[in-house]
Amino acid sequence: MNAPKITPTLPDAQTVLEVQHYTDRLFSFRVTRPKTLRFRSGEFVMIGLLKEDGKPLLRAYSIASPAWDDELEFYSIKVQDGPLTSKLQYIKKGDQIILRPKPVGTLVHDALLPGKRIWFFATGTGIAPFASLLREPQTYEDYEQIILTHTCRNKNELAYGENLIQAIKNNSLMSELVGDDALKKLIYYPTTTRDQSNQMGRITDLLKNGKLLKDLGIESISKETDRAMVCGSLGLNTDLKRILEGFGLKEGANSDPAHYVVEKAFVG
Ligand code: A2P
Repeated sequence: MNAPKITPTLPDAQTVLEVQHYTDRLFSFRVTRPKTLRFRSGEFVMIGLLKEDGKPLLRAYSIASPAWDDELEFYSIKVQDGPLTSKLQYIKKGDQIILRPKPVGTLVHDALLPGKRIWFFATGTGIAPFASLLREPQTYEDYEQIILTHTCRNKNELAYGENLIQAIKNNSLMSELVGDDALKKLIYYPTTTRDQSNQMGRITDLLKNGKLLKDLGIESISKETDRAMVCGSLGLNTDLKRILEGFGLKEGANSDPAHYVVEKAFVG
């Protein structure tokens, strides 16, 4: 008699529920949420696929959905020769991915001292943690004004953020959670650096030349009123850190809250 066949079960497997493609470089997807996973909006986890040799290939991904959501959402770049995303971009509904349920990260409310206004500065897929925080009721409870800047090379790369803002403003669940008045606190400032659009330029330049503040009718950024979270490329993070420090803001951490926090967006 043959021994019973053992089907290997994928450790930490989650099922893909939905996939949306935005451009040939960007897509988002939703997966089931492990019952045991608790996280703070803005944190990231390791997710990935099994390699042909049966070993997991994992990368850090910010959770783009808020902590109260029953499902998990992720927003990803597609890199044609990237070890993970060259394969991950082909996932479809019903497929399984691996998710290690150990959330971490610095882009959390606990890492900031109380303030009046919060800036979310994102480039590219760096918008993902803010997609979580912008759907988190605490963001609207803690601040009088919430500003999301999102800079991409091309106009079509802004689609995920545009849909997100529209969904937040028109979603009855969000109104129920935070109230219509609270949603009016949210300001969206998209810019492109290569395609022609209404707002052009790197956010660092728009901050340095005063255009961003002028457009928003804000006099200055100060450590008394302003808090910031930054998520983008290494270059953006370094440049923005310098600019925020120039305004007198100090970098915070979970263990030592201050005025701003920074995290590198997932890139490959
Ligand atoms: P740019 O087109 O001038 O390089 P990427 O797709 O390379 O991740 O870039 C996303 C966006 O971030 C692009 O609009 C890019 O502008 C911008 N960017 C890249 N590096 C920096 C930086 N050091 N400071 C400000 N913006 C940056």
